[in-house]
Amino acid sequence: MTTTLITGANKGLGFETARRLIAAGHTVYIGSRDADRGRRAAERLGARLVVLDVTDDASVAAAAKTIEADGGLDVLINNAGIEERTPDGGVIGAAEVTADMMKKVFETNVFGVVRVTHAFLPLLRRSAAPVVVNVSSGLASLDRVSTPGTPMHAYPGVAYPASKATVNMVTVQYAKAFPEMRINAVEPGYTATDLNAHTGHQTVEEGAEIIVRMARLGPDGPTGGYFDIEGTLPW
Ligand SMILES: NC(=O)c1ccc[n+]([C@@H]2O[C@H](COP(=O)([O-])OP(=O)(O)OC[C@H]3O[C@@H](n4cnc5c(N)ncnc54)[C@H](OP(=O)(O)O)[C@@H]3O)[C@@H](O)[C@H]2O)c1
Repeated sequence: MTTTLITGANKGLGFETARRLIAAGHTVYIGSRDADRGRRAAERLGARLVVLDVTDDASVAAAAKTIEADGGLDVLINNAGIEERTPDGGVIGAAEVTADMMKKVFETNVFGVVRVTHAFLPLLRRSAAPVVVNVSSGLASLDRVSTPGTPMHAYPGVAYPASKATVNMVTVQYAKAFPEMRINAVEPGYTATDLNAHTGHQTVEEGAEIIVRMARLGPDGPTGGYFDIEGTLPW
């Protein structure tokens, strides 16, 4: 029996990933920062719910305590994320970005990953086949963002790509520290969700594919990598 926690799984890619992993036989806890949204999603999925705000130490500690008391954790999917746009939906570029905006994005996308991973490490270390999937982005790729002619190069935002590039570095460092775990970063691809006001060209079914695949890695699978559905991505 594999037990899995997905942060920010009350909607979007996290919700779809939960649906797929439940179908594959995992016992899934969905994390939701809002109890009502979480309860509705858990009921639809047949999942367990933990109320978990990745920016809040007490909430993360309480979720870890609950899952530990229920028997532990094998797979952690750090999926919760924000982009932060202007009120009219525009991307916040280099001329407008402030330190406070960066802090807000990093609080969820980076410190949230570290806060949750740190809290669940003792549980993962007790698993026979521990796996961590960090949901990164193609915009984390310094190679792609600096290559003219790519969609990544055309994206003008600062905080979100910087946060996801940091997620990639965090992934590599954790993977080296815990060679007994499979710890990877994934790029789901540009997917229609609330994050981008449903402008993405992929469905959540397509976007969740690489998350699900990396969540189901066995002990012989890769670790410390950065993948999309086609394979390894350039850092
Ligand atoms: N969509 C894309 O094209 C795309 C591409 C590459 C990477 N990604 C990444 O994929 C992940 C999922 O995004 P999505 O596209 O599915 O977006 P989404 O539909 O907006 O879902 C984001 C989820 O994160 C949750 N969340 C936000 N802040 C949180 C916090 N402080 N604590 C706990 N949960 C929090 C949201 O909860 P609420 O409902 O409470 O807001 C929601 O459940 C993100 O990490 C995103 O960066 C998305």
